[in-house]
Amino acid sequence: MAADLKKMIPELSNTSVCMRDPKKVQETLESMVKAGSNTVQVISDFDMTLTRFAFNGKRCPTCHNILDNSKLIDDECREQLKELLNTYYPIEIDSSRSVEEKLPLMVEWWTKAHELLVQQEIKKDMLAMAVRESEAMLRESYQLFFDHLHEHSIPLLIFSAGIGDILEEVIRQAGVFHSNVKVFSNYMDFDESGVLRAFKGELIHIYNKREGALLNTGHFKELRTRPNVVLLGDSLGDLTMADGVQDMENILKIGFLNDKVDERKQSYLESYDIVLVKDETLEVPNAVLLYLTGNK
Ligand code: TMP
Ligand code: MG
Repeated sequence: MAADLKKMIPELSNTSVCMRDPKKVQETLESMVKAGSNTVQVISDFDMTLTRFAFNGKRCPTCHNILDNSKLIDDECREQLKELLNTYYPIEIDSSRSVEEKLPLMVEWWTKAHELLVQQEIKKDMLAMAVRESEAMLRESYQLFFDHLHEHSIPLLIFSAGIGDILEEVIRQAGVFHSNVKVFSNYMDFDESGVLRAFKGELIHIYNKREGALLNTGHFKELRTRPNVVLLGDSLGDLTMADGVQDMENILKIGFLNDKVDERKQSYLESYDIVLVKDETLEVPNAVLLYLTGNK
């Protein structure tokens, strides 16, 4: 690794860190620092990126899993949702299949899961309890991450194929749903008595984040003075989350490689600038962001 980069950000020597081209990382960071933190925006995935993949050897829930495991779902539905997870999650992380092959299957997964959830007539005012009683956990050092971005007025766009209502509740209960946070996700549509009837708008799944970004050009227009992007993701589908950014100058992509490390490491190294292997913390993203704001 370039000695200077290590000096700039000592956390990049952590054992979890892998980089294909440290020199490029260094150049990108130097260029962003020169432009100033008022030109930076952060675009992040939620499930398994801002939340932990595992804790004490046990898997942590995604937004969908928070509902699947809650009292708001009956046992039969829980079984069906678990079956869907057991069928489709191995496909999601299968590096031997192409995105083209996986895409229709992912649409199938999301569509079936949402149909099952709608049948349960979930009540809006029960969501907070489901989140409170869940084992959802944001990654270690999340407080510094959210607070630091807020203090420096750096916009944080959370772009999730999970469930917006649930993820907002997770960050609200953690006390970090600050005014600089904006969420694009699948939102629930409730009727006048507060019962779930459908999901709003276009479905977001893990392989259409590019289309989602392009539908939200208004948001990116507002941020056109911030052409420097730090992108955080855990899936190769997350790489297109910044495609709506106009006149992008620099992008630094940080990817969490949580599962099936040996099979997927090469493709992650080719796609992400910094790969964090089985790292449950936000230590490295925080160090990068502190560097970009002059360690303040
Ligand atoms: P994202 O992290 O890219 O936004 O994607 C959301 C995750 O949600 C993805 O890894 C698959 C997962 N998921 C479930 O756990 N259960 C479900 O029923 C569905 C549809 C997705
Ligand atoms: Mg994810």
